Amino acid sequence: MKASVIANKDYTISKIDDRVYGAFLEHLGRAVYEGIYEPDHPTADKDGMRGDVVELVKKLNVPVVRYPGGNFVSAYNWEDGIGPQDQRPTRLDLAWHTSESNKVGIHEFADWCATVGTEMMLAVNLGSRGVDEARNFLEYVNHPGGSYWSDLRIKNGRKEPWNVKLWCLGNEMDGPWQVGHKDADEYGKLAANTARAMRMFDKSLELIVCGSSHSGMPTFPDWERTVLEHTYDHVDHISLHMYFANREDNTPNYLATSHKLDRYIETVAATIKQVKFKKRSKKDVYISFDEWNVWYHSNKKDREILDGNSGWPHAPGLLEDIYNFEDVLMVGLILNTFIRRSDVVKIACIAQLVNVIAPIMTEKGGPAWAQTIYYPYYFASIFGRGTALQLVTSSPGYESPDADDTPYVDVAGTHDEEAGTLSFFLVNRHPTESIETEVSLQGFATGKIIDHQVMTHPDLKAVNTAKKQEEVAPKKGDGAKIDGGKLSVKLPPYSYQMVRVKI
Ligand code: AHR
Repeated sequence: MKASVIANKDYTISKIDDRVYGAFLEHLGRAVYEGIYEPDHPTADKDGMRGDVVELVKKLNVPVVRYPGGNFVSAYNWEDGIGPQDQRPTRLDLAWHTSESNKVGIHEFADWCATVGTEMMLAVNLGSRGVDEARNFLEYVNHPGGSYWSDLRIKNGRKEPWNVKLWCLGNEMDGPWQVGHKDADEYGKLAANTARAMRMFDKSLELIVCGSSHSGMPTFPDWERTVLEHTYDHVDHISLHMYFANREDNTPNYLATSHKLDRYIETVAATIKQVKFKKRSKKDVYISFDEWNVWYHSNKKDREILDGNSGWPHAPGLLEDIYNFEDVLMVGLILNTFIRRSDVVKIACIAQLVNVIAPIMTEKGGPAWAQTIYYPYYFASIFGRGTALQLVTSSPGYESPDADDTPYVDVAGTHDEEAGTLSFFLVNRHPTESIETEVSLQGFATGKIIDHQVMTHPDLKAVNTAKKQEEVAPKKGDGAKIDGGKLSVKLPPYSYQMVRVKI
């Protein structure tokens, strides 16, 4: 089987915003406690943060981390997480039916972000709280001093303001599962008022209003239209979330579901335009895809805790999806979509970062390791920066219950002018056939291949564990070549690969 791709230097989509390789960390399960924070761990630093996790996160060069939720934020009092750690209150977390010790709060998280070299993206609680809490939190985090909240921050040990630019106006407010769930009008008005107050403090903030929790919500896409009609002039991004699953154990169909992501983005981009024109506005609003991943492996196991049958445990194992090889392909497809839609998707956060539906897993007192999906995320984050190329791809396709004519070969390409490199990220969805793929490089100087990484596995369900940490890992590829301005690469059945060319 054969596929062909044209990559032309002059056909570009957009400069990729680095923040599409962001991540998300919620006070949920063992994401914070035993994930990033475990004071008794042998690798813990003076602040109790796990050094092994820091190393794994640093390698990913994560540009931004969204915090503290998620559903958690909709009943969170940020003030519980400041001041002496031993005097902080334990609260019941209604979202996940657990207890929250508040040992980690904004100071600890900010220090951890500085250690791993990432920016904070903070969410305010628009579920159980509102404008007042948001303005106080903002003053605490960003005001230099000389006011009640900024002086309290200084008293609590942090002299300089953190100057956080990105602020989420609540989380998934369209979802009836959310504490303080609202309809689109109610939420739109609250979000607009909150945004106005936050901008009175600092006009340069980037504000993110809640879009739909997923494209199957009955309120989608009217939610987006209504919310944007209230908030368009006051916000910069609209947040979308989407999780993927292979519940029927039908791999071809599972891998075809990336088309839903395309349609979701396309619809919201159109809605943004509609509201923009209706308001005769000059400004643009973009998409912040601030929760995305595969999520289903742990659903059954989690029921016991979520239904409240375990009481109110602190940091129990929740949403601990153990990812397999086919999830590598799915995550590769999602990231390719974000690269191709970098014209409208300016922020995206893999949900989440550690232990909870995450690329990194830890054992209490034990090792930390990379799950299978760590690798496509790593390759895209490290090498997928620069400009997205408008590739023209021809590939044979297939039919599946949820999608028509899904191409076997999915490819995204980026041009990093500064580094003088091209990166191609390729997924072969074919179960049994290798596909000879030829990429015609037009308008680029003659190049040479400087890196070629391949992920394949005979068992789609193979996973990485504490004991077998590299069962699913990339291997150096061979056989790719450039000849007469054409890059040829063979894509084995069910494979992910990255090819980098120095030009
Ligand atoms: O990431 C897990 C949960 O998924 C988040 O808390 C919520 O926003 C979404 O429903």
